Amino acid sequence: MQNLNIVFIGGGNMGQALASGLLNSGWHSDNISIVDNDQSLISKLKEKFPSCHVYSQTEAALNIADVVVLAVKPQTMQAACEQIAAQCQIKRPLIISIAAGVLINSIDAWLGGQLPIVRCMPNTPALVQSGVTGLFANSEVSKNQRELAYDILGSVGTALWIEKESLLDAVTAISGSGPAYFFYLIEAMIEAGQQLGLNEAESRELTIATATGAAKLISESDQSAQALRLAVTSKGGTTEAAINTLQQHDMKNIIESAIKNAAKRSQQLSKPNK
Ligand SMILES: NC(=O)c1ccc[n+]([C@@H]2O[C@H](COP(=O)([O-])OP(=O)(O)OC[C@H]3O[C@@H](n4cnc5c(N)ncnc54)[C@H](OP(=O)(O)O)[C@@H]3O)[C@@H](O)[C@H]2O)c1
Repeated sequence: MQNLNIVFIGGGNMGQALASGLLNSGWHSDNISIVDNDQSLISKLKEKFPSCHVYSQTEAALNIADVVVLAVKPQTMQAACEQIAAQCQIKRPLIISIAAGVLINSIDAWLGGQLPIVRCMPNTPALVQSGVTGLFANSEVSKNQRELAYDILGSVGTALWIEKESLLDAVTAISGSGPAYFFYLIEAMIEAGQQLGLNEAESRELTIATATGAAKLISESDQSAQALRLAVTSKGGTTEAAINTLQQHDMKNIIESAIKNAAKRSQQLSKPNK
């Protein structure tokens, strides 16, 4: 796969994260092109990816593309697709879109139709190669192209195929937006630690190490989250005192409503005239 040519349309946060992931996983830099129309970003991209190809215009890169990753904001996706449609119709590369809320049918129509397209939802820990991505492929995508898309997104973390495009709203609500829920909890824990007399650095270190440790513990355990929680909740102890407070405020219900709201918003955003 490393001999295939991949072109990123958009060299922003996510485009850069994916290009770095591919380089780390052994993709040849000579086979990676990054196109960005933000002139102020071009020199930074050339510095960060010295042996990849960096362009401010799409033409040269697209003539040899086996894979095109659309890594532009949802609101600029239509223009970006229309710009490259003619060349995509000639070369028929695998198209991978990482844009939130832009439907495969829309992308396909803007690109002229009948192209193999994978739509996916990565998350920001991809920036540190620890992301998770939900993927959905249209019927034009071959078995080899599915493997290719899986490997590309897998280079910045883990990846998971989903069966229906509409489930990307749930993926968005759980893992796409999910890092922010954990940051919110971390923020509150750091502040609580300070209120109890720790300084910010101490509270931050204790909180982050706890979050990392808890994530590692559950990922390496075959026990449920509930079982692991109960294992540290002794009767009459400190954890029980904290959990009782969370339960009095119906925390589980609050989290479930928040996630359902995120999924609803994701669904709204994928409709025209949102
Ligand atoms: N960041 C996240 O947490 C996250 C998570 C999951 C999915 N995503 C998705 O990832 C996509 C990219 O997000 P991002 O945060 O990386 O965005 P970003 O930092 O704004 O990067 C997009 C880049 O693409 C450039 N661009 C726009 N139209 C172009 C075109 N036609 N040809 C070449 N370059 C073009 C933009 O330049 P200008 O600024 O000049 O337009 C910008 O530099 C979004 O669709 C987002 O929904 C992001």
